[in-house]
Amino acid sequence: MENESVQELQQRDKTNYQLDTRKKGMELPPRPKLFDFHGVSMIHHFTDNWENIRNFQARPDDILIATYPKAGTTWVSYILDLLYFGQTAPERQTSLPIYERVPFLESDFHILPPGTELADKLSTSPRLIKTHLPVQLVPKSFWEHNCRIVYVARNAKDNAVSYFHFDRMNQAHPEPGDWNNYLQRFMDGKMVFGSWYDHVTGWWERKQTHSKLHYLFYEDMVEDTGRELDRLCSFLGLSPSAEEKERVRGGAQFDTMKKNSMANYSTVPIMDFKISPFMRKGKVGDWKNHFTVAQSEQFDEDYKKKMKNTTVQFRTVV
Ligand code: A3P
Repeated sequence: MENESVQELQQRDKTNYQLDTRKKGMELPPRPKLFDFHGVSMIHHFTDNWENIRNFQARPDDILIATYPKAGTTWVSYILDLLYFGQTAPERQTSLPIYERVPFLESDFHILPPGTELADKLSTSPRLIKTHLPVQLVPKSFWEHNCRIVYVARNAKDNAVSYFHFDRMNQAHPEPGDWNNYLQRFMDGKMVFGSWYDHVTGWWERKQTHSKLHYLFYEDMVEDTGRELDRLCSFLGLSPSAEEKERVRGGAQFDTMKKNSMANYSTVPIMDFKISPFMRKGKVGDWKNHFTVAQSEQFDEDYKKKMKNTTVQFRTVV
């Protein structure tokens, strides 16, 4: 396995720190607007670098972590990073934020190099790469190389709530407006990365033909992280010791990750944690604190129509 030296890590960390500090001193750019991109609502941060994204060269051992935003991407990214590199490169844990260990493929925020560049420069094997792209927009190289993909899905109601709070605190996303309008927009698919319904069902369909796709549910992870870790390891062909598994499970617990500045996004200047922290609640069922009875009924009715042709099933409580 090829790993970066500690000096390289420290140099990168220093560069990031300088970028952060510079950015913090600058006025934040205005919030971006949604537009239609190949039938999917998007913002320019994820399309500016499109030629490089489309032509991205995957490697056969790359592992793609794919999710609709706020489904548990960071949690699963962190788990995979610990599984692969927790023992062989422990310095990563204290010196590199998770978004650099697991580059966000389509991102182009001008705070960091674009995701494609970060991924190209990754010297780890395997490379762990994150994407929020709907299945039809994933660069074809991942399919050509038959890469392993871990897809994480979360029930629509909690996903919408989590996304709402994220959009409130994240200056790089469109203004969310009030909850009622936001929920309607969620139902209409007018969100960054498009419709939740299309995303989770599109990836579910692909699972039927792409054998190397592990479809994971956030609710199952919350219910029994150890069990899901076993399933994940079996999919990845890993066999960590019981002790190692316990170390990963413990390190990736919500309260532990929330305190970990390398995992909790507190180093990102465009996010305002005073409005809402990135690691917010980490629960199943928080939707009950947000949806009125009328909103919930209307949502459920609409949900049935939108999800009538799929077999994928979600739980809104555990
Ligand atoms: P909430 O806003 O409901 O708290 P993503 O990483 O895809 O952006 O997802 C973020 C959501 O995953 C947030 O949900 C966050 O709190 C939750 N999350 C992150 N780490 C977690 C963990 N270790 N356990 C449970 N939930 C976690």
